[in-house]
Amino acid sequence: MKDGKIAVAVVGCGGMGGGHAVAISTGSGQALWMTDGSKGRELAPGDTDLTTKMVLAGTFDIKEERQQWARNLGFHTYNSFEEILADEDVDLVLVATPNNSHKDLSIRAMRAGKNVLCEKPVMMTSKDLEDVMAVAKETGKVFYPRQNRRWDKDYLVMKKVYDEKLVGNIFHVESRYHGSRGIPGDWRGIKEMGGGMMFDWGVHLLDRIVLMIPEKIKKVYAKTTHVTNDEVDDGFIMNMTFANGVTAVVEVGTCNFITLPNWYLAGDQGTAVINSYDDAGRMVRVRSWEDKDATPILMGEGLSKTMAPRNADSVEELPLPDFTYDRNALYSNVCDVILGKAEPIIKNEEALRILRLMEAALESDEKGIAIDFE
Ligand SMILES: NC(=O)c1ccc[n+]([C@@H]2O[C@H](COP(=O)([O-])OP(=O)(O)OC[C@H]3O[C@@H](n4cnc5c(N)ncnc54)[C@H](O)[C@@H]3O)[C@@H](O)[C@H]2O)c1
Repeated sequence: MKDGKIAVAVVGCGGMGGGHAVAISTGSGQALWMTDGSKGRELAPGDTDLTTKMVLAGTFDIKEERQQWARNLGFHTYNSFEEILADEDVDLVLVATPNNSHKDLSIRAMRAGKNVLCEKPVMMTSKDLEDVMAVAKETGKVFYPRQNRRWDKDYLVMKKVYDEKLVGNIFHVESRYHGSRGIPGDWRGIKEMGGGMMFDWGVHLLDRIVLMIPEKIKKVYAKTTHVTNDEVDDGFIMNMTFANGVTAVVEVGTCNFITLPNWYLAGDQGTAVINSYDDAGRMVRVRSWEDKDATPILMGEGLSKTMAPRNADSVEELPLPDFTYDRNALYSNVCDVILGKAEPIIKNEEALRILRLMEAALESDEKGIAIDFE
């Protein structure tokens, strides 16, 4: 502890670890990358000011240029991982290195008496996470998976639409992110380092969809894409069927120059959509089902009544709900868990289920069959 606060050492000070260092040191919870360095975002109503709970002890990266970057921002830099482990002030090691090093670093940190906040995907396999969970139990240390996109506004808005039946009972959900830049040219293209979009984005999208639809997952069918990269998947489309009959499509694409909606929820009383990262979204709800017998429209070379647009007064279009919440809840909860004041919001068992789900998806992809999951 430092000044009564949780002292955090960040291991791996690249894109994400550097972001953590700025987020924690400013208390803002999020780094804003600027051409002239970086700063934290402004706190909004509802946000925990992290400077009240945690303090940045320092950072360590195996690359000197990243050490220098940290020093330029005034951060203390450790000379080795061992030096972090030997620092008695450090309560929490934040692992933000490429995926294949998470297991070793996490286990060594816990054995040295440190708690661990580990970037997603926490491990390369579910077996690895079981091993790490055993070490957490044996050492009595906290191991906390950073599946942070549960706090993205687009997800929370759509979860509210689902939970509060704002477009009726949902029968189908689509969650996707489409981009067109391929895989970043770093370790994300290397299989043995845990590259590929299933590991990179799949973990977030799956974490959210299984929280939204809290039912057993009966079937999983997935197909990965290799449009721009042979070694690892550069995207995937995954179909899931839940025990309550709800179906979901989860998709990541990196060669999509025209994008499909990030969220599409189909309910028996309406439809909700969020088209892109900067779209607040909308929902259209039915007012009257009386409008059954529409005048046929000419559709291509034929007529259709079924697909004729509705009369405007039989539906209503509304904005999606808006609300404030604590965008720093994850960091805040980690501190409270370490201090024994709260239960973890993100449970290791949940991270384990997501790893198993990704394994089922990859098995489905390899065998070309649907997998019975739970
Ligand atoms: N939760 C999120 O939203 C989110 C977003 C981006 C990345 N991530 C995760 O964060 C992790 C890092 O991703 P990134 O984008 O920052 O990668 P990056 O390549 O930008 O940074 C990784 C850094 O780790 C350093 N490094 C590698 N091995 C090390 C070791 N043994 N000790 C110390 N430093 C070491 C590298 O030199 C590099 O600077 C990955 O697990 C990734 O999946 C999470």
